[in-house]
Order: sequence, then C-alpha cells, then structure tokens
Amino acid sequence: MFSILHALIFLGASSYAACSAVHKTTHNAAPPAPQFKLVFTCNLALGVAHDFSIVRPQYTRVTLSILGGNWTDPDGMLIANVVPGIGGEWGTVDSTGTLTLDADYYVQFVHDKKYAYVRLGGFGVPAKSDDGRTVVETDSLRYSSLNNVTFVSPGVFSGNVLVSPHWASLDKLG
Ligand SMILES: *[C@@H]1O[C@H](CO)[C@@H](O)[C@H](O)[C@H]1NC(C)=O
Ligand SMILES: *[C@@H]1O[C@H](CO)[C@@H](O)[C@H](O)[C@H]1NC(C)=O
Repeated sequence: MFSILHALIFLGASSYAACSAVHKTTHNAAPPAPQFKLVFTCNLALGVAHDFSIVRPQYTRVTLSILGGNWTDPDGMLIANVVPGIGGEWGTVDSTGTLTLDADYYVQFVHDKKYAYVRLGGFGVPAKSDDGRTVVETDSLRYSSLNNVTFVSPGVFSGNVLVSPHWASLDKLG
C-alpha cells in the first residue's frame, strides 16, 4: 500500500515536473518572428486566351501556358525575363472555388544569361489573387542565394498578368 501511494506521489511529482519543463522549454525556445525582405517582383503573363482546362467531378484543372514576363528588383530594375513556352500553370479549382496553384516556369537572368527553374504553389481565388510560395533552382553564381529559399509570394492578377512580390526570411538569405 505504501509503495503504491509512494509510486502515485512520485508519478504525480514527475508529471508535474515534466509539464513545467515542457512549459518552460516552450517559453524559452519561442523563436523570434522571422523578418522578411523583398527580394524581387515577378510579373508572370499567363495565356488565359487559350485555356486547356480539364473538367472532372472533383475539380477543374486549370491549365494555362506561360507567355512571358519578368522579374524586377525592389528598385524596379529588370533582373530576369520569363522564358515563353516553357512550363505552365497546372492548378485546380474545386467546387468551393478554391484555386490550388501549381505552376512552373523558367527565367533567364539579364546579368549572366543563366536560367532558373521556378516552382510556384499556393492557394488563391481564380483570376483575382493567390497566396503563393515559390522556390527557385539556378546555376547562376550571382543569384545562387535564391536556391534553398522558400519565398512568400502573394500575388494579384492584373488581367492575365500575375504580379507577385517575393519575400524571403532574412535568416534564409544568409
Ligand atoms: C515587366 O513586365 C511588366 C508586365 O509585362 C511590364 O509592365 C514592365 O514594364 C516590365 N518591366 C521591365 C523593367 O521590363
Ligand atoms: C541547398 O540544398 C542542397 C540540397 O539539400 C544542399 O546540397 C546545398 O548544400 C544547399 N545549399 C545551401 C547554400 O544551403
């Protein structure tokens, strides 16, 4: 009897200790909120005039070609041109009207003529806006810092052009 009581007290004490340890750790380890920096703005022209959509019971796959566009730096200077005819937008719109964006495209940097493969995902409202995230893969030495970064890229459609500032967390930019 004594040993069971002892065990219960011990368990109680240790779970109290564990809880307060967790609480304390969580409190101490709360990471600082990331600080974001505007890295570039993308103007992506989509071929809405020729829509290759596929209508299925679950959703409509909205398939559009990439017509062109560019990336500009925060001062509005041209960094890269979107390469027309490579990639596309293959997202879906479901019965709730939610756009799940899935696009890929290429850009060519003005500085060294190197290419980048760009993947854009996220959610949005068709023909209006999107809550995008973008990853970039390039062998450009000048722009190598764009690799391994997830850009937050909220976009707004202006006609057939998706205009999206690309923000990155300062500690990811190195
Ligand atoms: C980038 O593309 C947009 C949309 O097509 C255009 O309005 C803008 O003039 C272009 N910017 C530069 C610097 O070429
Ligand atoms: C980027 O990611 C790749 C693959 O995970 C890794 O090999 C490379 O070292 C990373 N580069 C940087 C600069 O973090």
